[in-house]
Amino acid sequence: MKNTPDRSAPCWCGSKKPYGLCHLPTDERIAAYRRRGALVPSRKMLKNEAQIQGIRESARINVAVLDEVAQRIREGVTTQDIDRWVYEKTTAMGAVPAPLHYEGFPKSVCTSVNDQVCHGIPSQDVVLREGDILNVDCSTLYRGYYSDSSRMFIIGKTSAEKKRLVDVARECVMKGLEQIKPWGFLGDMGQAVHDHARKNGYSVVREIGGHGIGLAFHEDPWVSYVTSRGTDMLLVPGFVFTIEPMINMGTEDIYIDADNDWTIYTEDGLPSAQWEIQVLVTPEGHEVLAY
Ligand code: MF3
Ligand code: CO
Repeated sequence: MKNTPDRSAPCWCGSKKPYGLCHLPTDERIAAYRRRGALVPSRKMLKNEAQIQGIRESARINVAVLDEVAQRIREGVTTQDIDRWVYEKTTAMGAVPAPLHYEGFPKSVCTSVNDQVCHGIPSQDVVLREGDILNVDCSTLYRGYYSDSSRMFIIGKTSAEKKRLVDVARECVMKGLEQIKPWGFLGDMGQAVHDHARKNGYSVVREIGGHGIGLAFHEDPWVSYVTSRGTDMLLVPGFVFTIEPMINMGTEDIYIDADNDWTIYTEDGLPSAQWEIQVLVTPEGHEVLAY
């Protein structure tokens, strides 16, 4: 009987519940998928209730910070102003902006304007003008737990083309989200995202994706939005990750700013849009933690 797991021993997840009443059924189901060749999540990717509660609290702050940006953003402000608001609101709530000094990133938030795809660095020199579209990407560290979400903002009135890009990019995230349920696959989400983008004449950035998140800013797995239904990682309750596709008006090709080694631009100079949500796979389906 040496291969029989000890059902009464504490579960590996740290819940303090007996294994038999905690992750044993999940582990058996995961093992069955693995035997059939599926890519399955590691134990580290599956958060317990206490960890999820910590991530929820971090995410609540992240949402409040983005709400603050939404209240104050308008024509004439600089992206450096946004950085200051994010730093002040986050620290006032007892948290730390996760981007600050992350792998050398110099600011508290990413602000990506028009043809900037992501990782735009806030600057005094970038003054928001009527018609600009921009992504503000906030990430929070609170009591050891990470959260991450981003929204698009339109300054004043923009062109119908840019407005449609912003709207479709958001729809892509929602279509992806609809696919998130236990025992589905990340590829179900990826396919829904790129189907909707391509149907609307847009392309999806391939090289940059989402990520697991919770106990670290960027955890495995890397999350692609150009995957196919039924492929990529199996979705299991307790898995927390981001849906954050970058949708380009023109071609999918991008390049990195050689001066700062961070900011990504579209190769053709056409605009790009991105929304990001942080999602938990639940036994019933999913829960949006940050948006
Ligand atoms: N918030 C970004 C993401 O969605 C990460 C940016 S890394 C940073 O993953 F250092 F630029 F903040
Ligand atoms: Co992210």
